[in-house]
Amino acid sequence: MGRNLARNLARHGYTVAVHNRSPQRVESLIEDHGSEGDFIPTTSLEGFVDSLERPRTAIIMVQAGAATDAVIEGLAELMEPGDIIVDAGNAHFPDTIRREAALRDQGIHFVGTGVSGGEEGALNGPSIMPGGTQESYQTLGPMLEAISAKVDGVPCCTHVGPDGAGHFVKMVHNGIEYADMQLIAEAYDLLRHGLHASPAEIADIFAQWNQGELESYLIEITAEVLRHFDAETGKGFVDIVLDQAEQKGTGRWTVQSALDLGVPVTGIAEATFARALSGSLPQREAARATLPAEAQQWDVTRPEEFIEDVRRALLSSKVVAYSQGFDQIAAASAEYGWNVDLGAMARIWRGGCIIRARFLDRITEAYEANPDLALLLSAPYFTSVVSDGLGSWRKIVAQAALCGVPTPAFSSSLAYYDGIRSEALPANLIQAQRDFFGAHTYRRTDKPGSFHTDWSGDRSESPV
Ligand code: 6PG
Repeated sequence: MGRNLARNLARHGYTVAVHNRSPQRVESLIEDHGSEGDFIPTTSLEGFVDSLERPRTAIIMVQAGAATDAVIEGLAELMEPGDIIVDAGNAHFPDTIRREAALRDQGIHFVGTGVSGGEEGALNGPSIMPGGTQESYQTLGPMLEAISAKVDGVPCCTHVGPDGAGHFVKMVHNGIEYADMQLIAEAYDLLRHGLHASPAEIADIFAQWNQGELESYLIEITAEVLRHFDAETGKGFVDIVLDQAEQKGTGRWTVQSALDLGVPVTGIAEATFARALSGSLPQREAARATLPAEAQQWDVTRPEEFIEDVRRALLSSKVVAYSQGFDQIAAASAEYGWNVDLGAMARIWRGGCIIRARFLDRITEAYEANPDLALLLSAPYFTSVVSDGLGSWRKIVAQAALCGVPTPAFSSSLAYYDGIRSEALPANLIQAQRDFFGAHTYRRTDKPGSFHTDWSGDRSESPV
């Protein structure tokens, strides 16, 4: 990705000094693409830093963790106050906060920047989510906006907020990506069970969906993947891929942060756990060997209606996942004082990134209409999506349960929907239980204050 980002910068007229621990990588970049622009190949970090114009800007793209720290340390020793180090990798945001604070003490700007779009996006225009100081954005912004994707002429790049804000937003982007992918996979699985259709036939359904509200990069590539045949066996490609989903960790980080912030990102969490379940091999084997498989047969009598039910359930669940992700960004923004513009985040995700989708416009519109929107799901467009889809959503989740088809993300999103709109939740019983065994106190519906009941004594209530 670093190589493609360098090419993208060069193609936009920037002079790009390039450095890599292994000199062959630099040589091959110059050999293969040197004619695309103005590159300065370097063989040492000193040579790289020396070749930069002041104030210097160094963009690094290395593995998250210790490797990133090592490169930053090396650069910081050679750089001067006013210089900028941009970390464009998928760093964990607490690391970015720590690094920014340390480099700030040296007068160096550290800009943790989310970059989404994979290798192709890096070359042709990614979605870029820079954190760091406003001052650093004044220097960096025009360059990053120039190389970012554009939608209706608007760059998919904006200053997200201070220190770790950029990497946080990229992390949640990836969490939503996990949810989106899991929901699509569940829809595919439902169609396969319900219609007994081949991958290629299901590809046509996804291609059709991509013409409407579900239009998105992930739906588009799903159709392409499902249409692909394995050259060796002649089978549908998806049927020869092992059903064990892996992850590099950004989904897990999203869920960990959501737990810390107390934000229920159930769609993202279920998607992350679904990957973990798929990789739990001894447990899957033990379960397959012992647990009863008793379930109803899926009997679809009206295929068109069934396909439409799955589509609506998918769209409704997707809306929930995005609403939860935006809740998480809002909570972190308040917690860390980032002042993130939520509508702008949806705007910079409209192009270049993996979760780019038609309905992101609706998210921007919702926050433009009400910047203090408490719940994205409650904005008019999203309310209408879920009310149109509700009957289908319930039918699909119920039928999947009866037929033993796992739909963790579809069903947890529906449970979230029913929970968040509930007049009364059984959390009152949980509070009573907590007070019973741990004197943790409770609040009453009819008067202010906290109370404890003497459960082991005369059961009298006293204010606490
Ligand atoms: C992107 C992607 C990118 C990458 C993820 C995949 O926005 O370009 O999200 O960051 O594909 O690292 O993550 P997993 O390996 O965890 O699925």
